Parts: sequence; structure tokens; C-alpha cells
Amino acid sequence: MYRLLITALVLFALGCSASEKPENTKQETPTNAIQAEMQDAAQMLVSGFMKDLKSELMSAMKKGGPVNAISACQIKAPEIAAGFSAKQWSIKRVTEKPRNQLNKADTHQQEILALFADTLKQLKFFDEWANPDNKIGYTYYQPIKIGKFCLKCHGDSKKVGEKVTLALKDKYPDDQATGYKSGDLRGMFVVVIENGDDVSQLQRALRDSL
Ligand code: HEC
Repeated sequence: MYRLLITALVLFALGCSASEKPENTKQETPTNAIQAEMQDAAQMLVSGFMKDLKSELMSAMKKGGPVNAISACQIKAPEIAAGFSAKQWSIKRVTEKPRNQLNKADTHQQEILALFADTLKQLKFFDEWANPDNKIGYTYYQPIKIGKFCLKCHGDSKKVGEKVTLALKDKYPDDQATGYKSGDLRGMFVVVIENGDDVSQLQRALRDSL
């Protein structure tokens, strides 16, 4: 029974991510079942994070406009990230042009961002192991693109407007995260799962909570 369940889980993981993948990208083909499970778990973390942050942003926006939503984003984004992180796994957002300096991509992450910036490749995600042999240190990256909704706080000065610009300057004096256009690469999610052995536990926890 246990074996059957695992097989079902693996089939589900493979089936659900297969449609997302462009055929010609080697990195995105699961090399084995564990990697497919890792991708599935990481994608669940990303959707949970996105869903919660978006709903916080939307409701703060409705209540008090973009200036109010800036504070909501400042407080809620790290809280939600922490909520989806545990001892053995974590999720965060990084970028080359940070608003919050804590979200600055390191050198290796900048290389991955360059892969996502390559419009010919059109990678939907990228993943890698620190040590593929013993399934330690899995990292999953997924690009974050700018949509129309984001321009109120990340667009050019005309789109952002004076009030929001002032509020942003006040909270983030070194803000680099404006001037974007719809469709621009804004950054990426980084999901780290320390140990492949924990992935079933993570999936169970996620399925229960999402
Ligand atoms: C109401 C204003 C507002 C809107 C709308 C908004 N953001 Fe942000 N964004 C912020 C603030 C404020 C931060 C800094 C959060 C922090 O301090 O951790 C931020 C940070 C980020 C970061 C983390 C990297 C960094 O620069 O610190 C990403 C990625 C990001 N936003 C993407 C988006 C995307 C994509 C959208 C549209 C779906 C969006 N944002 C909409 C205000 C906004």
C-alpha cells in the first residue's frame, strides 16, 4: 500500500509538471523520481507564497491604496516567506535591483537570473543539487515577471506617482526597484530543500496547509 502511494505521488508529480516544461531544456527534465518530487514540492511552496502575498497586497490596496500596501508588503512579505519555511526548507525572493537590500541576488543567483533573462531559452524554472549523489542541497529557482498590477510600485515615475514615490523613498532610501515595464524580469523565487529524504514530509505538510 505504502509503495503504491509513493508511486501515485511520483506519477502525480511528473504528470503535473510535465506540461510546464519546454522539451529542449535539459535541466528541466527530472533525472529521477526524487527530483520530480522536489520540483513538485518547490512549486507548491512558490504558489502558496504567491497566493498569500497577492491577497495581502490586494486587500491592503483596497483598504488604503498603494501607500498603505507598501507597509503591508514590507511587513507581510518576510512573514509569509517565514511561514512557508521550516528547518529543512526555505523560500525567498531575490533580484539584481532590490528594493530591500536583504533581497539582493548573490553572484551565483545572478548567473541563474541571466539564464531567465535569455528570452530564447524561456526557462520556466531551473533546479540543481549541491550534491546530486546523496541528494543534499536541492535548490529550485523560478522567474518573477512584472505584470500590470506591479507597476504602481515598480513602474516608471509616471506610473508610480508622487505619493507612492515619497512613501517608498522614506522606507527604502536605496530603492532600485522602479522603472520596470510589463513583462520585465523582476527577480526570482529561490526554494532550498536541504535533504531529499524530507521531501515526502514537506509535500504532506503542504497538501494539508494549502
Ligand atoms: C503596493 C506596492 C507594491 C506592489 C503593487 C508590488 N510591490 Fe513588489 N515590493 C514592494 C515593496 C514595499 C517591497 C519590499 C518588501 C520588503 O521590504 O521585503 C517589494 C519587493 C518586491 C520583491 C523582492 C525584491 C526586492 O526588490 O526587495 C519582488 C521580487 C517584487 N516586489 C515583485 C513584485 C511583483 C512581481 C509585483 C506584481 C505582481 C509587485 N512586486 C507588486 C511593493 C510593491
